[in-house]
Amino acid sequence: MNKRLKIFLIILLIILLISILIITTLKVINNKNEDEETSSYSETAVTVMKDMDLYNEINSKEYSKTIEVLLEDNELKEKYLDDYYQIDYMNIENFSSTINNLLNKNYDGEEINYIMKNMESDIDILLNMEYIDILAFKDISNFDINNIERYLNYQKENEDYDLATVVTYVNIGLDKEGYSEYTEYTLEKAQNDLTILVNKYHKLPDNYEPDDLVALSYNSNYYLREEAAEAFESLTKAGVLDGVIFYPFSPYRSYETQEVLYNRYVQRDGVKAADTYSARPGFSEHQLGLAVDVRSSSLPDNLTPEHYKWMLDNSYKYGFIVRYPKGKQHITQFIEEPWHLRYLGVELATKVHNSGLTYDEYYDLYMK
Ligand code: DAL
Ligand code: ZN
Repeated sequence: MNKRLKIFLIILLIILLISILIITTLKVINNKNEDEETSSYSETAVTVMKDMDLYNEINSKEYSKTIEVLLEDNELKEKYLDDYYQIDYMNIENFSSTINNLLNKNYDGEEINYIMKNMESDIDILLNMEYIDILAFKDISNFDINNIERYLNYQKENEDYDLATVVTYVNIGLDKEGYSEYTEYTLEKAQNDLTILVNKYHKLPDNYEPDDLVALSYNSNYYLREEAAEAFESLTKAGVLDGVIFYPFSPYRSYETQEVLYNRYVQRDGVKAADTYSARPGFSEHQLGLAVDVRSSSLPDNLTPEHYKWMLDNSYKYGFIVRYPKGKQHITQFIEEPWHLRYLGVELATKVHNSGLTYDEYYDLYMK
């Protein structure tokens, strides 16, 4: 080949190479401009997604505020990309790290949305434990995240209970021995709240005495709080009209009286048995002046089955409930006591009656 031709070909080749280079560069610049025009993401987000080589993938999908915030926080993890699209952005503290931590625990998008919307301030509780099927609790109104571990343990021990029952029972305290842990009310609460719940998990102050006790017409040594006493007179009259004659035999009892009684029962039957039918001092509704034991005129300390039925069907109309009904000992922690009436006022007693629940359950579901 002659020398000139050789040089010509080399120059041609160089020109060709330079042209290719220029065209490619122009294309890239052009593309870049186009990208920036079509992306809805913030500049910072775009920079990060480009660094991560996710520009095209992210921009081929609909805009997501969640993705944008994750990118801006430098917290986007490629392995969770699909999950992020299921998660609604929420303006909460540490949004990005929170959703990554929840994803890390195997929560899915739907669960994470639920958690952020409903349990924002309690997310740490979930992050400190293994994955749980949180949506199973979604429709349980008295679910309390603070009791979550107790629910799970109690459910393991009681596989035949549904989750709603587990939640209510644990909230009541039934996963723990009665009296082992309890809340003690203040004097003000005891005096001012006629609907107060007293059971083996809720104690009255030792020195609590109602300040409005009045004597019952049946016996001037028998007392109830004024409102309960009036209601009791009406109940008694209604019974008479229906031919159901009953009398009070143990109304208000002071802390000291309850102590004497309980100790006597313990001496006679032992602690275990006594605890099934007598409250320990401080834990009796009788100390409230809002409970009264009644007996049929023909019996020393009980109601006849007929009178008991009448009481179950009618006492709520005068503001009383039968507090320890049949078949509920596992909840009330006391054996069936046909004779023990608790005053709640007509409105609440009617609701409790209609619910078919014990007061312990009703209180947890509707009064907290
Ligand atoms: N007998 C009931 C439970 C009480 O002692 O208050
Ligand atoms: Zn009683």
